[in-house]
Amino acid sequence: MTKVGQVTVGSLLGRLTGTRQKAEADESSSGLQPLTERLTRNKITRIALSFLDANAGLHLKDLLLDSASDDRRVTIDGHHVWNFGSDSFLGLDRHPRVHAAIRDALPEWGAHNGASRAFSSPVLVDEAEAKLAAWLGVADTFIFPSVTLANVGLLPAITQAGDLLVVDRESHDSVHQGARLAAAAGARVVELAEPEPQALEKVVAQSRGGGGLVLAIDGVYSMSGRTPPLAALDETVRRLGGIMYVDDAHGTGVVGPRGRGAAAEALGTLDNVLMVGSLSKAFSCLGGFVTCTPELKTILKIRSSTFIFGGPVPPPYLAAISAVCDIIMSPEYDTLLEGLRGRIGRFTEGLDALGIEHNGGGSAIVSLKVGDMEKTFAAGRALFDRGYYVQSATYPAVPIQGGLLRVQINANHPPQSIDGLLGAVAEVWKAARLPTRRQAVAAR
Ligand SMILES: Cc1ncc(COP(=O)(O)O)c(C=O)c1O
Repeated sequence: MTKVGQVTVGSLLGRLTGTRQKAEADESSSGLQPLTERLTRNKITRIALSFLDANAGLHLKDLLLDSASDDRRVTIDGHHVWNFGSDSFLGLDRHPRVHAAIRDALPEWGAHNGASRAFSSPVLVDEAEAKLAAWLGVADTFIFPSVTLANVGLLPAITQAGDLLVVDRESHDSVHQGARLAAAAGARVVELAEPEPQALEKVVAQSRGGGGLVLAIDGVYSMSGRTPPLAALDETVRRLGGIMYVDDAHGTGVVGPRGRGAAAEALGTLDNVLMVGSLSKAFSCLGGFVTCTPELKTILKIRSSTFIFGGPVPPPYLAAISAVCDIIMSPEYDTLLEGLRGRIGRFTEGLDALGIEHNGGGSAIVSLKVGDMEKTFAAGRALFDRGYYVQSATYPAVPIQGGLLRVQINANHPPQSIDGLLGAVAEVWKAARLPTRRQAVAAR
């Protein structure tokens, strides 16, 4: 675990080169040492370890929060900072009704059901899936313990030998992992370099055999916060006889009509897509789900190995999911969303006034382009030192020269914390001479 400014990985490299052998003699006698050394010799691992070492005081990864409060203040290694790195966009992790749902379910159902859902589930899962379906206006939904497990279970489940699975390159890692399993099971998998209809048509024309077609894509890109042109892509994929699979983890509860997500916003309905939503981000509970019909759900249960062989969402969190659906369907949601959108607007307008390029604020993730990897880490660290924690996103999460600061706006950020962050951004941009919008436009 890395505390701020602390080096923890150097010892691995040092041990290989023999410089720290004495101090670490005891640890080296572990039976796991040969494995550790073999993995450390791997080229990619060595590059990553060297990089972490070189940027030990800057990268702010693997942080431990010592305390957290309702208004998103956290303490990290003695630093008191405003946390702009939380996906609990609506602040529901702090909501009394969500807490009460977890507390009330606990005595009756216990902390965990202790069985794969393929064997048995508390009735709470049926209630939560029905409430999610009612909120989204779809026939049914199917819950997994995480979006990762949904993607890894579903992509091989909805494709088979002879099918073409096109995966948008910028999709989340778990979509790519699911696609790898689909490929291992016989589907043809190709990457889409640009999420554009023409590029999609070309890839399909080049690669399709006689089977089905699925386009897997994110609804909101997790690093940049941007949204791909889902309506145009859906029109193309459906004209070609296929279907879109949209991982809308960051759109769930925040984007589109009543927070139904980026796909619902672009397409008006979720009837013709498989939309995967998150229950761990704006929902502040745990899990992921896919929209479906009851018939399809039966088939997905038979074909999805993470459902059959994996564990469930614990009962108190199932109760919390239903509580969040109730909140989203109530007038209170309008207030929450208004608060969130107001804060996103306050931040993006502030950035506009400063002339700093950002992604536009269509979601609760506002990304600020820096470019160079080390400058990105340094900018993140400089904001941290001024009392604001944001996430520095660098390669491989973004392209090599595409480093950005990822700011997650939450409904419970006090307005003065957003103003303070803007002031800190202005200082850091000036001091480090980071690119302004004018320079970015001139460079295009
Ligand atoms: C687009 C997207 N998909 C999937 C995930 C993984 O979600 P989970 O933590 O539920 O596995 C994330 C996490 O940030 C994400 O942004």
